[in-house]
Amino acid sequence: MPTWDHEDCDPAMEAEHTRLYRMMNRLEPVITDSQSEAKVARAIHMLQERMADHFHVEEELFVTADWASRQVMIRDHHDLLGMLTALAEIPPHDGEARRKLFTAFLKALARHDNDVDAPLFSRRH
Ligand SMILES: [Fe+2]
Ligand SMILES: [Fe+2]
Repeated sequence: MPTWDHEDCDPAMEAEHTRLYRMMNRLEPVITDSQSEAKVARAIHMLQERMADHFHVEEELFVTADWASRQVMIRDHHDLLGMLTALAEIPPHDGEARRKLFTAFLKALARHDNDVDAPLFSRRH
């Protein structure tokens, strides 16, 4: 599970990421292990909504910032949401495929945080 552990981050963004990860920690066991089709679908839907909100907040904050960095951020956000769309489309009985894709999503998110969000929201800007 990724955690937000980057020095010199803007405090509001740090708090936002900490809240996001707390929610993801709660949803992870439901998405990967729950036997209830309805619970899995609800958890994935909550994650989709929350991530879309989070990305929206970041993109708004970066409206006036350097254009090239903002394009990289938007492309990553788009790809990450695409992974969640694919996760929602996996047939309910295929827990193995769900676990695999969710693990890949967490890895891609950790890379995005590290390479894109942390430098962009550094207080050193
Ligand atoms: Fe972020
Ligand atoms: Fe981001």
